[in-house]
Amino acid sequence: MPDRKLTNEMLERMVDTNDEWIVKRTGIRERRIAQNTATWELALEAGKRALTDAGLDAAALDLIIVGTATPDFFTPSVSCIVQGKLGAEKAMAFDLSAACSGFVYCVDVADSFIRAGKAKNILVICAETLSRIIDYTDRSTCVIFGDGAAAAVFQASDADDGVLTTYMRANGTLGECLKAPILPEEDPLAPGPRAVCDHRFLKMAGSDVFRFTATAVPEAIDAVLHQANMTADQIDWFVLHQANVRILHMITTRYGLNPDKVYVNIDRYGNTSGVSVALCLDEMRKAGKLQPGQHIVICGFGGGLTYGAALIRI
Ligand code: COA
Repeated sequence: MPDRKLTNEMLERMVDTNDEWIVKRTGIRERRIAQNTATWELALEAGKRALTDAGLDAAALDLIIVGTATPDFFTPSVSCIVQGKLGAEKAMAFDLSAACSGFVYCVDVADSFIRAGKAKNILVICAETLSRIIDYTDRSTCVIFGDGAAAAVFQASDADDGVLTTYMRANGTLGECLKAPILPEEDPLAPGPRAVCDHRFLKMAGSDVFRFTATAVPEAIDAVLHQANMTADQIDWFVLHQANVRILHMITTRYGLNPDKVYVNIDRYGNTSGVSVALCLDEMRKAGKLQPGQHIVICGFGGGLTYGAALIRI
């Protein structure tokens, strides 16, 4: 995570907001900002650390996937930049655009490549520099989002653990609820010169997205539980996208969970889009919370709109 912190107190001096509103409505106390840092730089650092941690040489990678909604260029992709810098000579590389569902979508793609026998070693990285597309005069979004990166290595294995089942969906009819245009808003096929777009900021119809999550998140969680023939009380951890602590509380109540089973770190990092689930898992593992044999449900939801869940045994 970038070192620079943006606290609620700092935001109070920038827009008409206050710490009490932000904490009560979102659960966020501070977020990180990657000043003068490209998405690929965050991604590369996270990728290097994951490889070191896994004891894997970059030369052994078959595939690098970077989940990001804030790539540095149309092309080259963030994943190709990372592939080149890592010297992962035999790896295929592509970016995956699923915004806040990024890591969960990447898990499904990595699992599919491995099951198809197309890859043995995969590096999944999620990286965001959302601060580049946030309007810091818009209090409805600038208090929510933060920057960061997280990565994981996936390897083929004969063991019966790993990704047990997944459920991925999208609802493109709601795409306007969370939008960050990179091209002029006009019809791109219309004749004549294009207007230069200076409205690159992310806009979110927060309450509409909130309403969507109320049905989409339980739908995805119910689906993976059903597919694995398991019940919520058999799950050790629920690791959900950190969009709003109220969504996490809603899931805790709905499934009658011990609140300690629903991991929360939104207070320290805000909403980091696709990074959040991987960041939680990394923190949990380093804190010794993850033990072999445990079952984890991960769930992502957001821009697209996209959503999905996976059930993992570690
Ligand atoms: N500080 C103070 N007041 C604020 C504010 C801020 N930072 N942001 C908005 N408000 C105000 C609004 O202007 C509005 O005022 P009004 O009633 O006078 O019009 C009021 O607070 C309520 O706004 P609303 O947008 O309805 O708040 P909310 O309770 O829905 O909370 C979110 C806003 C964004 C925190 C919430 O909708 C949310 O988390 N949505 C889901 C986001 C999500 O899941 N994203 C997933 C992918 S990123």
